[in-house]
Amino acid sequence: MTNASRPVAVVTGSESGIGRATVVALAQDGFDVGLCWYADESKAQATAREAAEHGVRTELRRLDVTDVPAIPTVVDDLADTFGRLDVLANVAGIGSSTLLLDVDYPQWRSVIATDLDGPFLLLQAAARHMIAGGRGGRIVNVTSVHEHQPRVGAGPYCAAKAGLGLLTQVAALELGEHGITVNSVAPGEITTAMTGQEDESPEGKHRPGIPLGRPGDAREIAAIIAFLCSPKAAYVTGASWVADGGMLRMGPMAGSHLTSDDWRRP
Ligand code: NAI
Repeated sequence: MTNASRPVAVVTGSESGIGRATVVALAQDGFDVGLCWYADESKAQATAREAAEHGVRTELRRLDVTDVPAIPTVVDDLADTFGRLDVLANVAGIGSSTLLLDVDYPQWRSVIATDLDGPFLLLQAAARHMIAGGRGGRIVNVTSVHEHQPRVGAGPYCAAKAGLGLLTQVAALELGEHGITVNSVAPGEITTAMTGQEDESPEGKHRPGIPLGRPGDAREIAAIIAFLCSPKAAYVTGASWVADGGMLRMGPMAGSHLTSDDWRRP
């Protein structure tokens, strides 16, 4: 049964890593959650069970964010099923690790389609429901430190995440009059499948290039997303919240302390 007074969030990438942690954090804050999963339904179901422990309703939908016609269909379906839509967390994404000279066009398109086209179409579809609902809304796009700084081998990823960062800012301008805030969260290294560390604890992992000395935990990113979706963040829009243990501040320090040319190859 839908509780019409409970706000509703839609989260992509919900079966793993930051997406899964975001579903749980939003459920803890009292959101009913529409979980969009892609590769592993059983993991999405496990996430939904964890969320439901907080007394909220969950709905699962398979969504490939590169499937252009499916995006509004799934968003409309979830909004209709719950009866409202208040939050979109664009979390799904893929990386790239190929030097620019070796990137072929299908690989380029795949990353741009997943990390930029899909989030745009989701944002558009969700914002239409938020405007129709008349209660405002919150959109959080998970970008990366590579929204702001480059990485060797990550040309398509950097282009997509930087594009999503500026799309966030345009959306903040255009949707502000409807009471919709739009922000990005830009993580550094987080222990998830994307970095080959699925479900591993960051504790005890040493990272000399990161001021805090360790990677981050998916729950540390989810907590920021949940904050941006909370009443406490009502006046924050168009921002990019970096959560990287200080990594982005290391430019000149790393520049003067690297001792080999290893970084020139992915
Ligand atoms: P993850 O690999 O656990 O999550 C990625 C999610 O995206 C998975 O659930 C996967 O099923 C989904 N996905 C991939 N292709 C999809 C498609 N075509 N349609 C729908 N869903 C699709 O890794 P993580 O770390 O949780 O990644 C989540 C987001 O965080 C991504 O956007 C990533 O770029 C971003 N990020 C991650 C960092 C890290 O160090 N782990 C650092 C910076 C940003």
